[in-house]
Amino acid sequence: MNISVFGLGYVGCVTAACLADAGHKVIGVEIKRKKVDALNEGRSPFFEPGLSEVINRCAKQGTLRATTDVEEAVRLSDIALVCVGTPSSKEKGLQLDAVIQVCEGIGRALSKKEEYFVVAMRSTVLPGTSLEYCIPILEQFSGKRVGEDIGYCVNPEFLREGSAISDFHAPPFTIIGERDARSGDLLARLWSFVQAPLYRVPLGVSELVKYASNAFHALKIVFANEIGSLCRAYGIDSNEVMRIFVSDTKSNISSRYLRPGNAFGGSCLGKDLRALQFVAKKTDIDLHLLNAIIPSNNAHRERIANLVLGSNPKRVCFVGLSFKEGTDDLRESPAVQLVQRCLDEEVDVQIFDSDVLSSLYDDPHLKGTAQYMPDNVRSCIKSSMEEALDGVDLVVILKSISEKDYLQLKKWAQSGRRIIDLYGTLGRNAEELPCEINIMG
Ligand SMILES: NC(=O)c1ccc[n+]([C@@H]2O[C@H](COP(=O)([O-])OP(=O)(O)OC[C@H]3O[C@@H](n4cnc5c(N)ncnc54)[C@H](O)[C@@H]3O)[C@@H](O)[C@H]2O)c1
Repeated sequence: MNISVFGLGYVGCVTAACLADAGHKVIGVEIKRKKVDALNEGRSPFFEPGLSEVINRCAKQGTLRATTDVEEAVRLSDIALVCVGTPSSKEKGLQLDAVIQVCEGIGRALSKKEEYFVVAMRSTVLPGTSLEYCIPILEQFSGKRVGEDIGYCVNPEFLREGSAISDFHAPPFTIIGERDARSGDLLARLWSFVQAPLYRVPLGVSELVKYASNAFHALKIVFANEIGSLCRAYGIDSNEVMRIFVSDTKSNISSRYLRPGNAFGGSCLGKDLRALQFVAKKTDIDLHLLNAIIPSNNAHRERIANLVLGSNPKRVCFVGLSFKEGTDDLRESPAVQLVQRCLDEEVDVQIFDSDVLSSLYDDPHLKGTAQYMPDNVRSCIKSSMEEALDGVDLVVILKSISEKDYLQLKKWAQSGRRIIDLYGTLGRNAEELPCEINIMG
């Protein structure tokens, strides 16, 4: 393909060089003359292992060159990869000046081009940037319609400086945020040589996956450092602790606990965090991240309570009461607190939880369930889904639902009624239910 790459910084240079090396004809566009000259002389404008060699090879072969001329680059390419910087800004979160300038320039050049053309945003941009800025600007300056005459995709980059070339060839995934299949198809074809799973998603998903990834990487580093600081206070080898910690690929390094939904509860997480906070205070260590977990969890409980109570329901059905799936344990269960909050606000509550129900009937004095269930909550428990749904205008789902119970829910669901799914139970079924459905993340 004929490709233009806008912005010849770390991302743009690696992208331009590697695509040229993969057999494409690439033209880089940059406002800094020195970077343009470096590329055209076969040199990398900065140090990145292996990059100068690739640039040199491609410049000699004539598959890679650079310019300051936007119009020329658009005229000679079928697709533009935008790789300009998006640094921080106090007022707007990030500075979009370069992105806007490039979109205006490409738009202007497209007003003189007949052929179909795709603009792919590789720079990291906040959710909404494409719909609010990039697409309207491209349409305004080109006089063309995105999705018809031209295409637009969000296609974030995941390379890391220092290992950029190998990362470029084997990213964690290729993600294409698209509004129309034609532009997505073109990008999917472009990246077909890369060894990575491909996700084709709406624009916003693509924009946010990049932020979620970087935020999580930062979180991991800070977490490791706080655990390291605790280790030091105890005279414990932090590397040994973390070596063993990361070897748990069931709960620690896995997708477990990474599904948005309900707040955490139960007898262990809160208790152990409070214990660590106590030790940290005693030893004078500032554990900002670990200290923030319980307040953040409480804030999430509050968001859920606002969502539940916000529509002034008269009678609510809770599907699930224990703190998680497959247990009757009610200790620190967010659902118990939420039920009590509803009762305090004089909302009628009906609860169905088969795990809790079976232990209540088995022997309420021996099991933990009875002990942690206030009387006013216990009196809301119903013996079947059908009974729990009777006369309610809102259902809050906190656990998975059996097929039989789902059929009851389907019978209940009609317009004007509402479901809040905190467990992701409904999945694709959500589309077939005629009531309003909120999936809480
Ligand atoms: N650096 C990384 O490791 C990395 C990794 C993944 C994603 N990203 C994201 O990719 C984007 C680029 O990052 P970077 O580190 O390569 O930035 P950078 O600052 O190294 O490079 C940006 C380049 O764009 C040029 N530029 C500015 N305005 C221009 C214009 N109007 N026309 C043409 N060129 C213009 C600048 O002169 C500069 O050379 C950012 O959004 C960043 O968040 C960076």
